[in-house]
Amino acid sequence: MSYKEVYGKWQSNPETFWMEAANAVSWSKQPTKALFDENAPIYEWFKDGEINTCYNAVDRHVEAGNGDRVAIIYDSPITGNSAKITYAQLQEKVASLGGALQAQGITKGDRVIIYMPMVAEALIAMLACSRIGAVHSVVFGGFAAAELATRIDDATPKAIIAASCGIEPSGVIAYKPLIDGAIEMAAHKVEFCVILQRDQLAADMVTGRDLDWHDCQKGAAPASCVPMGGADPVYILYTSGTTGQPKGVVRPTGGHIVALNWTMKNIYNVDPGDVFWAASDVGWVVGHSYICYGPLINGNTTIVFEGKPIGTPDAGTFWRVIEEHGVKSFFTAPTAFRAIKRVDPKGEFVKKYDLSCLKYLFLAGERADPDTIIWAQDQLGVPVIDHWWQTEIGYPAVCNPAGIELMPVKLGSPAVPLPGFDLQILDDEGIELPRGELGAIVIKLPLPPGTLPTLWNAEDRYRSSYLETFPGYYETGDAGYMDEDGYLYIMARTDDVINVAGHRLSTGQMEEVLASHPDVAECAVLGVKDALKGQLPMGFLCLNAGTEKPPEVVIAECVTLVRKTIGPVAAFKLACVVDRLPKTRSGKILRGTMAKIADAEAWKMPATIDDPVILDEITEALKGLGYPL
Ligand code: COA
Ligand code: AMP
Repeated sequence: MSYKEVYGKWQSNPETFWMEAANAVSWSKQPTKALFDENAPIYEWFKDGEINTCYNAVDRHVEAGNGDRVAIIYDSPITGNSAKITYAQLQEKVASLGGALQAQGITKGDRVIIYMPMVAEALIAMLACSRIGAVHSVVFGGFAAAELATRIDDATPKAIIAASCGIEPSGVIAYKPLIDGAIEMAAHKVEFCVILQRDQLAADMVTGRDLDWHDCQKGAAPASCVPMGGADPVYILYTSGTTGQPKGVVRPTGGHIVALNWTMKNIYNVDPGDVFWAASDVGWVVGHSYICYGPLINGNTTIVFEGKPIGTPDAGTFWRVIEEHGVKSFFTAPTAFRAIKRVDPKGEFVKKYDLSCLKYLFLAGERADPDTIIWAQDQLGVPVIDHWWQTEIGYPAVCNPAGIELMPVKLGSPAVPLPGFDLQILDDEGIELPRGELGAIVIKLPLPPGTLPTLWNAEDRYRSSYLETFPGYYETGDAGYMDEDGYLYIMARTDDVINVAGHRLSTGQMEEVLASHPDVAECAVLGVKDALKGQLPMGFLCLNAGTEKPPEVVIAECVTLVRKTIGPVAAFKLACVVDRLPKTRSGKILRGTMAKIADAEAWKMPATIDDPVILDEITEALKGLGYPL
């Protein structure tokens, strides 16, 4: 079937389309129907079915006689270690950890936070939770203790599963002090922690609260898979919103399994047994969907890579992994390719490896710039497929569906909407815009299975953030246009979310942190262009009258404050002190105009500006920071 036929099949009968997709996974109780819309605009899928995520990702492959197939390859150039885990071994490991958690009192519906680097045990922890019906919430290792504390208070977990340390090129990052700090800061108290002691750094354990990963499993009865309702949550993943309070995206069990299973063949074109690699981190949605659940549900071999695209040890590390493990489909963020291209523009490292196993490169997480796509195509000689999605959606919504039909590539576009997604471009009044015109990208409700049904403990916020601006539609927060052929072009965010090295960050959150500095009277943070990371945050600080500290000292303290409060992942290093911020007469800071000046884009003097002279001062300050580039 062609893309048009598959999309048309979904359009003409979504219920049948998704029930057919649901038949490809294993239910302990088959759902009687796909969509439950009695609480619209809150929708649920497969609600009366019963299913277990870990069973679909692990046990069913063992029961089908594929226990000897490799499920996980751990490849860690940063430590020099590697390992392979078969499906049968994985079943044993997840049953054992699941049993240990049950022995400590974790039952269906309890939350467990996972704070781990890229080790196989991170996947084992996720799967063990989903096996016993515990709702996990993985927190990215680059977030600071305060961010972890916010998530502890929101998710109210009974337990935290963590490793003693992560390893970055800059050195070993001790996780335990961050966890202890977060537990101390949080109002909610976790009952216990399970700590994986890594060879690189042993953590100090708190007696009576901290359990050793291996010790706690001794003697525990292996856990079997607990049936979950189709609409029960399997995990919560926090993502940046407009404030310091992150949004807890809820992932429903049944739809998640069905949708991910569908994408593995139809999008990534991998069959059971093929090696699939997403070079991301378990802390992000890509890690959830395409390092852990998607490939395992489909019976693929997945790779847990603990390293960076460059420097571990060199810009050939991706190619080495692809050759050594026979990767067929590879997924990463454009920023990783920009990093490699910068170090190895002629592709000398690419030539050293036999990459004949590789059939596709998929890029997502941020805009894929045409230069990067062309470079990757030239070097690898395979289709380079940009695709668009977000944490809330959980899997690609717009893509060139390689497993269905490879459509013509248009540089700068992630291609066409996939089944389930009726994408439209609306103006501010909610009127559909003609092809080629820029507007808000929205998706007609209901969203398909596996997408967020709500935010954790925050249904009102879910409604106000996503459903209220354009009734009947889900607001993506992205702006763009669609061309005559139905190809989507993503141009910008409509909120203050920025994208730094494929990581989603909130400038509003950074402003909240900066405003808490005692010498800062007012501030603004914008996303400005960066050749490597796509965007970087840049801070403008107005200091309190009478501040005695020199500006450079306040700037340095602010940089440290953001790093300590949000984490190194915020990459907040550019800041300057200015006398005033440009504002409209009603007091709104003109962040958009400032960003355009920084990025050397055409801009118009806003008619409502209070004092145009301030923009000259901002331009001078930008020059001091080396902008425009
Ligand atoms: N634990 C602790 N610290 C972490 C971390 C983790 N898991 N991940 C990143 N950090 C730290 C880094 O060490 C760095 O700290 P520094 O300021 O002390 O140098 C900081 O957070 C910023 O990290 P990063 O954005 O990764 O920048 P970088 O300069 O170290 O590396 C790239 C640049 C392009 C190589 C890197 O960003 C990369 O590999 N990007 C791929 C992006 C990706 O996979 N995104 C996932 C979405 S699909
Ligand atoms: P996240 O939730 O972290 O996956 O970030 C989602 C956001 O990243 C989207 O809303 C977009 O702003 C951006 N994004 C993701 N993929 C792409 C893409 N292929 N092209 C352009 N922007 C993208």
